[in-house]
Amino acid sequence: MATSNSSDSSMSAEVPAPYGTGPSRPGVTPSATTSQSDTTSQTDSKKPVGRVRTHHLQQAKTKGEHFAMLTAYEQYTAEIFDEAGIEVLLVGDSASNNVFGNETSLPVTVDELLPLCRAVARSAKRALVVADLPFGSYEVSAEQAVATGVRFLKEGLAHAVKIEGGRFYADTVRAMVQAGIPVMAHIGFTPQSEHSLGGYRVQGRGDDAQRLIDDAVALADAGAFSVLMEMVPAATAAAVDAAIAVPTVGIGAGNATTGQVLVWQDMAGLRGGKMAKFVKQYADLRTSLSSAAKAYGDDVRTGQFPGPEHSF
Ligand code: KIV
Repeated sequence: MATSNSSDSSMSAEVPAPYGTGPSRPGVTPSATTSQSDTTSQTDSKKPVGRVRTHHLQQAKTKGEHFAMLTAYEQYTAEIFDEAGIEVLLVGDSASNNVFGNETSLPVTVDELLPLCRAVARSAKRALVVADLPFGSYEVSAEQAVATGVRFLKEGLAHAVKIEGGRFYADTVRAMVQAGIPVMAHIGFTPQSEHSLGGYRVQGRGDDAQRLIDDAVALADAGAFSVLMEMVPAATAAAVDAAIAVPTVGIGAGNATTGQVLVWQDMAGLRGGKMAKFVKQYADLRTSLSSAAKAYGDDVRTGQFPGPEHSF
């Protein structure tokens, strides 16, 4: 997915930030622009890094291109995925069951997610950082959702937030967007509603497809910049994607969506146990880490580490 502003005919090129951007960071244009004409404020000789913006995701949809999204919960993975060119990093409430050791995403709190979000946002020079609003932090009212969204942009340094739920959240999305909070909507299987949905079930099969299309249309009309679909038949996801102008993201939703997202521990094989059908593993980090830990333990027990080269 190209992120050069110069190819975006719908808006003028991004210019260097006029009010300063804090301490200069090596390799990053303070204004985070990719426009070749805006490189004067570069802090070193490296190529300038352009921040992925929501309008770049929109461009991808318009051009029939795709973008990649991965979860990230701390600095090293954020840095690695960012440098690998992943366009969107999601500080998911899946941190609940992938970082904090809970069984589901339900227990994680705003105060637990905020520091993770801050770490990811500080480490990602280019990716758009989206933060999940956790269960209980936005459902009560539009005011509650705006207040929580503001915390994620202000304290978590996120660039956008994601909330779960269908058309009933259209007014909430509208209020958040009006407050300046870009919102990604999450429909289909919504893990925070696991108990009301009766467990992990594919959503939008057969006649139920229309419900998802109506949800997506209502949320896009309310101003969501993107609609994410989880565990939705490929044909339904394609129909949803065709029904809305904003980019879609899929996880277990076929390949017609503009973007794809996976939980990084699944994608890289860090998590053990049975994987969902929609997961493709691109590495076996669990085996690599386990071997490294065993070798280290053996070296320590046999007195081979530390050697003279590690000693003062
Ligand atoms: O929290 C998360 O990781 C998510 C993805 C499953 C989309 O919401």
